[in-house]
Amino acid sequence: MIKKETIDKILETALIEEVVGDFVNLKKRGSSMTGLCPFHNEKSPSFHVSPAKGIFKCFGCGKGGDSVHFIMEHEKYSYPEALKYVANKYNIEVEETEVTPEFKLEQDRRESLYIVSTYAASFFADTMWNTDTGKTIGLSYFKERGFRDDIIKKFELGYSPDDWSALLDAAVTNGYQQNFLEDVGLVIKNDQGKVYDRFRGRVMFPIHNFTGRVIGFGGRTLKTDKAVAKYVNSPESDIYHKSNVLYGLFQAKKAIRDFDNCYLVEGYADVLSVQQAGVENVVASSGTSLTTEQIRLIARFTKSVTILYDGDAAGIKASLRGLDMILEEGLDVKVVLFPDGHDPDSYIQKLGAAAFKTHIDKNKKDFIFYKTEILLKDASNDPIKKAGVIREVVESIAKIPDAIKASVFLRECSNLLQMEERILITELNKMRLAKAKKDAPKPQSNYEEGPSPEMEAMLYGAEEVAAPIMQADEFQERDMIRVLLLYGNQMGNWDETTDTYIGPYIILHLSDVVFINPLYAKVVKFYHDELEQGRLPTEKDFIQHPDREVSSLAVSLISSPYLLSENWYNMHNITVPDETEKLRGTVMGAIFHLKKKKISAIIKAKQKAIQEEKDADNVMILMKEYLDLKEVEKYISKYLGSVIIR
Ligand code: CTP
Ligand code: MN
Repeated sequence: MIKKETIDKILETALIEEVVGDFVNLKKRGSSMTGLCPFHNEKSPSFHVSPAKGIFKCFGCGKGGDSVHFIMEHEKYSYPEALKYVANKYNIEVEETEVTPEFKLEQDRRESLYIVSTYAASFFADTMWNTDTGKTIGLSYFKERGFRDDIIKKFELGYSPDDWSALLDAAVTNGYQQNFLEDVGLVIKNDQGKVYDRFRGRVMFPIHNFTGRVIGFGGRTLKTDKAVAKYVNSPESDIYHKSNVLYGLFQAKKAIRDFDNCYLVEGYADVLSVQQAGVENVVASSGTSLTTEQIRLIARFTKSVTILYDGDAAGIKASLRGLDMILEEGLDVKVVLFPDGHDPDSYIQKLGAAAFKTHIDKNKKDFIFYKTEILLKDASNDPIKKAGVIREVVESIAKIPDAIKASVFLRECSNLLQMEERILITELNKMRLAKAKKDAPKPQSNYEEGPSPEMEAMLYGAEEVAAPIMQADEFQERDMIRVLLLYGNQMGNWDETTDTYIGPYIILHLSDVVFINPLYAKVVKFYHDELEQGRLPTEKDFIQHPDREVSSLAVSLISSPYLLSENWYNMHNITVPDETEKLRGTVMGAIFHLKKKKISAIIKAKQKAIQEEKDADNVMILMKEYLDLKEVEKYISKYLGSVIIR
């Protein structure tokens, strides 16, 4: 863990305009600076940097935060990684808190695993470029397949000698420990205790994580003998988890961001050929089916994936289902098929880079349409099969989180399927409802004991209230958080009870409010906990909050030009008497509008409970509760009236 003092020093020293300036061309405009946002495509600048506040904010894509968050976002670093980057830029020595010896040992061990892997990669490359067998066997293999030197070097390809212990011997001679080589599977110890190299007589593809460190290998045989495994791969290890690695991502990530698209292929050879054709935004899933982690890895850089398939029909049908997963993550998916059993590699090697690019442009198709066409072809005129097709297609569309996008697909598919759009919409809503029921979110409470029974009833009791109400509260909850962050450490002295800071005052008043939005609940809880520790959080604590979501929210709220409560004044044509009055209106208005919203939901649930209750005594009890609630509601309305419209 990096010491708190170091973190503070880094945050104090870093100048946002300098950190961002390394990646974005900034121009001065008034008190802030602007440039083209590096996180989305734009032609006119909506990306702002405020040196005074130490934050950046893009009004186009909404991203925002401090220097460290900029680096996290831009380089896809973790919080500590980004801190270290900024520290390094300003020559700040990073002090880490004392760690337990066990933890230190584990860290050192992981580091050692990276180090032996890097050594092995350089050993294989060195063998290929600088030894006779390496050149005549390994290098000439790659050349025969048409790979240029620059590509071979870019991917640090190599050759493992056809020998039982070439790597082991070289590594040990150079002072690397055998047990680390074993731990990453570069050498194998068999039952008799004999130790030998895993990779022998193969061309080697090092696998990098996305920060560029070598974490594993794939080794391809040079033999055409079917009895020999075509690829031998590194096993899972503490630094290599296959499910969250994409081959080529390190070399592709910049281009993926620049082109806002990622091509997905199957094999190592495909990545090399596509890169060599000048298309650098390409990664491979390396023969396994795609995992959610891999999709999220891509989603850090782009929300658009184009899958390049070799056109074997059986394989395509089998993979259709897996692709729904990509839709679920909110990515756009396009598909390109290659003819005559070609894969991207063989297509490029045979027909060239230009033909390859043309082929992609001409044949890329939205996955949903592609799926519809394939399934329809299969169903021909069988009505039962066709009903199945419709269901499957709508199922895919239902996975798309963006409702507008989904409705566009529905319309197009209703044409393809020759089926009324209305019917498809009904089908889709049924699926959505079933899914919403299945994974309805547990309400988040800012207090330990959890939501009140009324809130429970409201959330789970009646299905038709659950979803709309959650969204209806959003606005009031958000405004409450905005007021808390903006005015929390100002004094509110409009009467004797408020002769205190506004933050604690608000928190006190929220003790009976359950926030439904988990992020807002998190902010309130953080504020509450800080107060308990005797600290009054400031704007900065939120902007610099390690939790990316919290800081991003803070930046949005703070830099938002739109102030809800001020609008209320305008709406009611009220002239604001003075600053104190205005502050009072803003704070109390936010608190009581939120409370009003919450209580009307509770009242609604209570009404419903009364209607459904059969037992007369229980009805009486419920009625009493209902009337009490109505009293509270009346009081709140009255109060709001007096605060807002004096
Ligand atoms: N693969 C594997 N083990 C195998 C076969 C394949 O791990 N026995 C993985 C490799 O990551 C490979 C990918 O699946 O890159 C795709 O397989 P394939 O298309 O056969 O490999 P290519 O890399 O295209 O190899 P080549 O073109 O040299 O045949
Ligand atoms: Mn291939």
